[in-house]
Amino acid sequence: MTPLTTPDAGTEQVHDRRPRSLGEVKGWFRHADIVLFDWFLSRQDRLEQHGDLLEMGAYMGKSAIFLQAYLRAGERLTVCDLFDGEAPDNPNAREMQKSYSTLTRRAFEANFRAFHEELPRIIHGPTSWVPDEVTDASCRFVHVDASHLYEHVRGDIVAARAALGEEGVVVLDDYRAHHTPGVACAAWEAVVTGGLKPVCLTSTKFYGTWGDVASIQDELLATLGERDDCWVGAEEIAGGRVLRVNADRVPEPRLPRSRYAGEKPAPSEAGTGRVPASRGKKIAKDLLPPVVTRALRGLR
Ligand SMILES: C[S@@+](CC[C@H](N)C(=O)[O-])C[C@H]1O[C@@H](n2cnc3c(N)ncnc32)[C@H](O)[C@@H]1O
Repeated sequence: MTPLTTPDAGTEQVHDRRPRSLGEVKGWFRHADIVLFDWFLSRQDRLEQHGDLLEMGAYMGKSAIFLQAYLRAGERLTVCDLFDGEAPDNPNAREMQKSYSTLTRRAFEANFRAFHEELPRIIHGPTSWVPDEVTDASCRFVHVDASHLYEHVRGDIVAARAALGEEGVVVLDDYRAHHTPGVACAAWEAVVTGGLKPVCLTSTKFYGTWGDVASIQDELLATLGERDDCWVGAEEIAGGRVLRVNADRVPEPRLPRSRYAGEKPAPSEAGTGRVPASRGKKIAKDLLPPVVTRALRGLR
């Protein structure tokens, strides 16, 4: 989800602050998608589908930190991001300036190291480098969350298709937001003309495959359709079935743990020693002689 909406971490994450939980890492990785990423990646694990993970657009690391936790022996996560580097064209440069002007690779790495010993493989540059850097058919899961401009997303979907093995899953961020029409256009174009089959949709992400869509959908329906904290609906689009999922109330899966989990909040969060105004008034009322309290009230 792009920055016209507020990132998940409520506060501006300064680069040297140590995140004590994934929730404290600034980014746009929503609860329903955390649930679905977990479902797709755990399913791949259960079916022993092997392959690398790839993320185009990592920002401060929120979804990348989560993805790294699903790697098995011999697999790796690759992330591609411009970070503080140069955008390949003016519209992309404007997008970067408007939305990610404080981002640095250092901030990403510091966040990532808070949760994992090893950094992922980093392609520090535009996603147009991905086809040269990532071996064809080497991945099982690709998250496309970089530029939201049509020409870029179109290329990213082509790169995702090449990177994915037969049973691979691609996730497209912001396929339906008002401020990202380019993603919507590229996503549905890939469905209508590029053989991409939608598995399911959340309010922020599109999950698809170029492989066997029916078996994934049947399993998803069987798992989520049974639950009373989840809603799944099906409809036909361009001759194919698409599931719509609302998993907002499904309990969160186990999240990667920060090495700083036990640290006390920074002074700015924990309180500055100042007493909140309403409590301050009550303490004054309890402690001061009535005549002083009345005088103060008069002054106010
Ligand atoms: C919406 S953010 C990614 C959010 C992240 N996945 C998360 O979970 O918080 C988009 C990222 O894409 C990067 N980006 C934008 N244009 C790019 C391009 N042409 N190539 C590579 N990265 C790009 C930005 O630097 C930014 O970090």
